[in-house]
Amino acid sequence: MLVSGNEILSKANQEGYGVGAFNFVNFEMLKSIFETAHEVSSPLIIQASEGAIKYMGLESVVGMVRIFASQYPHIPVALHLDHGTSFESCKRAIEAGFTSVMIDASHHCFDENLAMSKQVVKYAHSFGVSVEAELGRLQGIEDNISVDEKDATLVNPQEAEIFVRETQVDFLAPAIGTSHGAFKFKGEPKLDFERLQEVKRLTNIPLVLHGASAIPQNVAQSFLESGGDLKGSKGVPFEFLQEAIRGGINKINTDTDLRIAFIAEVRKVANANNSEFDLRKFFTPAMDAVKAVIKERMQLLGSANKI
Ligand code: G3H
Ligand code: 13P
Ligand code: ZN
Repeated sequence: MLVSGNEILSKANQEGYGVGAFNFVNFEMLKSIFETAHEVSSPLIIQASEGAIKYMGLESVVGMVRIFASQYPHIPVALHLDHGTSFESCKRAIEAGFTSVMIDASHHCFDENLAMSKQVVKYAHSFGVSVEAELGRLQGIEDNISVDEKDATLVNPQEAEIFVRETQVDFLAPAIGTSHGAFKFKGEPKLDFERLQEVKRLTNIPLVLHGASAIPQNVAQSFLESGGDLKGSKGVPFEFLQEAIRGGINKINTDTDLRIAFIAEVRKVANANNSEFDLRKFFTPAMDAVKAVIKERMQLLGSANKI
């Protein structure tokens, strides 16, 4: 059943577990996400970026999610706009049927971010749609970063308190040292957990970890075996994801891990038989690989068996 993001995340916040928010760009990714949630009895946050919406078409995104949601009526599902860049983008998504949106004005100054987020909240809440916003910049923190540099990049907990009170956003993504993609850290992985705990203490709402892919060893290895190159890739270690949840994170944004797992299998089929052209021969093992990643993640984050 399609529900607001709030319905899923306030329960996760109260009970202290994490829910993976999985990105999709096609039918195969979406099917894998739903089938796994069904298998392990997990609530679902499905997200589409503006790029994904442009690729699939807004109506197709909503239509596909609604159809799967009706096939699995016992699964609470939120359809979330990932990194909405403007009020108009959020409005279009809400009108089309999204039940949760992110307004990402984090690259603007604090006041502008606050004003844009407030405008989206006012509109979204009148439709029962939940809103996520972001504070700070997504950027890996390096070993020798100074306190000043850290303060300039990462979330400021006092600002977070004011921001949440003024905007009434439902969820906040505080920058604590993650970044998108497969190359998150130059040296050892490092996140600012103290800062996270302070944001949680001062806001007490569900928090979101962007750039939360882990690039597990087996997934990277499979990509490598397929002939892919991921030299120097580094994700967020599983223990960090668990510590982040203990520090107040409830929504764990995950895209890169699914992409890597999917494409590795497609390339293996292509390599093994260069006269193959039945799409299902490529996508069936790709979906199985994605499902294995999602299943392991739902169990790790604690959303399995929560419905
Ligand atoms: O946050 C970024 C997500 O991985 C979506 O990426 O804009 O390439 O669809 P995208
Ligand atoms: P990853 O690139 O780590 O999967 O992060 C995805 C994300 O943050 C989507 O908003
Ligand atoms: Zn993100």
